[in-house]
Amino acid sequence: MTKKIVLNTGGGDAPGLNAVIRAVTLSAIHRGWEVYGILEGYRGILTPEDFPNGGIVPLTIEAVRGITHLGGTILGTTNRGNPLKFPVQDENGEWQTVDRSAEITAAFQEYGFDALVAIGGDGSLTIAHEIGKRSGINVIGVPKTIDNDLEHTIATFGFDSAVSFATECLDRLHTTAASHNRIIVVEVMGRHAGWIGLYSGVAATADVILIPEIPFDIEKVAHKCEKRAPNGAGFSIVVVAEGAKPIGGELSTKGKAVGQAAQLGGVGEKVAKALSAQTGLESRCVVLGHLVRGGTPTARDRLLSLRFGAAAVRALEEGQSNIMVALQPPRVDYVPLEKVANAMKAVPLDGDIIATARDLGICLGD
Ligand code: F6P
Repeated sequence: MTKKIVLNTGGGDAPGLNAVIRAVTLSAIHRGWEVYGILEGYRGILTPEDFPNGGIVPLTIEAVRGITHLGGTILGTTNRGNPLKFPVQDENGEWQTVDRSAEITAAFQEYGFDALVAIGGDGSLTIAHEIGKRSGINVIGVPKTIDNDLEHTIATFGFDSAVSFATECLDRLHTTAASHNRIIVVEVMGRHAGWIGLYSGVAATADVILIPEIPFDIEKVAHKCEKRAPNGAGFSIVVVAEGAKPIGGELSTKGKAVGQAAQLGGVGEKVAKALSAQTGLESRCVVLGHLVRGGTPTARDRLLSLRFGAAAVRALEEGQSNIMVALQPPRVDYVPLEKVANAMKAVPLDGDIIATARDLGICLGD
């Protein structure tokens, strides 16, 4: 039977999305199947007026040519297009959310899609799982996020590229911090989990790493920076994940739009100010922000993305339903989607990377 697959990319973009799109498309076409892409998450169906050439596009060999190394996603993405909680303005101009999942079901039926390949993080895969239950479509999830905070897979694609770039930035900041005897606080992404901050911080020999999993005591951080000066190092590199917070304190946020998670940011500036005040040392803050999300995927991320995309199509051929492809070395395996929904993977505090950081004398703020 001819299979008709539809795929989409949801949530924050991550390096490697295009490699997954290419692998799914080619693997399916080589089996004689048809592949379509929904533009910008589910918006291609929900707001077709935004897409003059149609919100659902055929994916052909030509459409996916030369995209393996490109960052971003050729389909576009959004984190303001959840069909289960779609933002709308009521007659008083107030923003509300409405359930528009029935329109997704209707579009899937109209096109005759057999399966949805949903490429996303925790949020997008939870939505896809629910869409699958309501529409009856078979959902194959592909785990994406630079944050690496998805359970049941050793790695998500995008993480290695984010860590590599953040490490390069920290190396660069190291030389300027040392030249000026400054504290440089570097804020990196990491909403609920501190994987990017921890991995890049250890790789780049940061002096302090603050992650969401370990609420920090600013006095301990200040003490660590002060202690370095008599040993000939009047500078410090302090890595802070955007979701880190002081003991008993709050997350630093920049506001919240309807139907969207709160935008995080600001903790780096607060830490830099507090360190200046407590140590008397000059402190600056650099926010890496979306720089760690953009750009070319590393070779490791390209390979993982291509393996995930091809495995998603093999899963369909083997008759799998409602699973996520997952890296469980040495294999790419399948995990029931219901196990993945709402399952966040934090940095394990008893793991060897935390132990390594402590053994190296890196302050984790506790
Ligand atoms: O989930 C990936 C991520 O990069 C988080 O680390 C960050 O909090 C969030 O996306 C930012 O999303 P946005 O680009 O919508 O502000």
